[in-house]
Amino acid sequence: MLKANNIQKSYNGLEVLKGIDLEIDKKEIVSIVGASGAGKSTLLHILGTLDTPDQGIVSLNGVEMSTLPQRKMSKFRNEEIGFIFQFHNLFPEFTALENVCIPAFIKGNADARSKANDLLDRLGLGDRAEHKPSQLSGGEQQRVSVARALINDPSIVFADEPSGNLDSASADELHQLFFDLRKEMGQTFVIVTHNMELAGMADRRLEIKDGLVTI
Ligand SMILES: Nc1ncnc2c1ncn2[C@@H]1O[C@H](COP(=O)(O)OP(=O)(O)OP(=O)(O)O)[C@@H](O)[C@H]1O
Ligand SMILES: [Mg+2]
Repeated sequence: MLKANNIQKSYNGLEVLKGIDLEIDKKEIVSIVGASGAGKSTLLHILGTLDTPDQGIVSLNGVEMSTLPQRKMSKFRNEEIGFIFQFHNLFPEFTALENVCIPAFIKGNADARSKANDLLDRLGLGDRAEHKPSQLSGGEQQRVSVARALINDPSIVFADEPSGNLDSASADELHQLFFDLRKEMGQTFVIVTHNMELAGMADRRLEIKDGLVTI
């Protein structure tokens, strides 16, 4: 489903990624580990079209994303790719419900609100829909960002240290949620993590070392 070939990326002469090849199948949960500075976030951003490689190709469902013109790429990203970051990146002035709705509003989905409410219910946040992010716990904020990532039924969800900012109980709950959502919705996840327990739970654990992926 997702294919990356020969991904290379350098910053100021520093070769961060030296030719990464990988394939991720539908419904897989893949973890990416590696030392700080190894290039995990760089790779995740390139796979998710948030950054462009110096060399190489990324395709999702047979669409080579870098060849899309800017507007088509934005639309494709909004509809096919979900993101979860370490710091939830929710808009502070919007409620949980509004934050979840944003990608669906951009898509033009008339059912955005009812779908967002259903997702918040599913994630145990039905009674938090009208709260602003600052009125939610870290674990709740992160579950709102999971709902936002899922609202358009993306083909793949990328998470960059999603539990990096959570206490261990909230982290465990979030990790279990990824597996439950895979089971219920067939969702595919690629998760960068320093959490070895989560990395070990994944179907596959990829390690980035010296600019390449080792298994
Ligand atoms: N925009 C940038 N400009 C210059 N250098 C960058 C940029 N982004 C990343 N780098 C460098 O690329 C290398 C890889 O960074 P990256 O953020 O991908 O690491 P990481 O594996 O995600 O690390 P961490 O576990 O600390 O998040 C680092 O040496 C970093 O300093
Ligand atoms: Mg990183």
